[in-house]
Amino acid sequence: MEYLLDTANKQLIKDILNYYPIDGITTNPTIMTKEPGAYLDILSDLDTLLDGRQFHIQLTSITFPDMVEEAKRLNDIIQSELYLKIPVSHEGIKAIYKLSKQGFKVTATAVTNLNQGIMAAKAGASYLAFYVNRTASTGINGNDVINEIISIFKRDGYQTKIIGASYKSIYQINKSILNGCKSVTVPPTLFKELMETTVTKESIEQFTNNFKDRFKQIGPSIYKE
Ligand code: G3P
Repeated sequence: MEYLLDTANKQLIKDILNYYPIDGITTNPTIMTKEPGAYLDILSDLDTLLDGRQFHIQLTSITFPDMVEEAKRLNDIIQSELYLKIPVSHEGIKAIYKLSKQGFKVTATAVTNLNQGIMAAKAGASYLAFYVNRTASTGINGNDVINEIISIFKRDGYQTKIIGASYKSIYQINKSILNGCKSVTVPPTLFKELMETTVTKESIEQFTNNFKDRFKQIGPSIYKE
């Protein structure tokens, strides 16, 4: 199972990477607009921060020729494990196919139905990012579609891995994982909720307080020479 962070915010990424074995980050053009500074400086700082982890960067181009050119320029500057994040538009599917053939690692993105997912796999995408919450807003249960895509991938032998994306609740994330996503990309606003529960917090507090009541101290000093 892989956990990615859906953000370009350096401080949030740094804080979480400092404690959790996170596999990388995903970005999109909107996410990038939320960070200060020049675009290439943001990319460079994130690349350094990731230190070789997965870096799924969504292309800003919307036409096939520009996507191919932008891919080459990104490939020249990014040192981390680069995945070109390309939407499953007409132009995008053509770029996914051509760039995968050329050996680039591609994440098909903005996937919102079964056929887009299958086409992304046929085009050679390494990953596909399925938008769970955005499909929910159209009355579709995205996690059910993820289940359908995975059943077709198993039937036809496609190796493309699914990244669950676009979340507004832990419930949505859990269902994606249980339905077969190999990865989820988590917005930082949900990450704290993902890992912290009141029961865990209160249990640790109880153990610590009970021990301190009896032995007056905790930690390495107990084992003083
Ligand atoms: O990586 C795609 C993701 O950022 C879209 O999520 O929350 O904008 O629907 P959201």
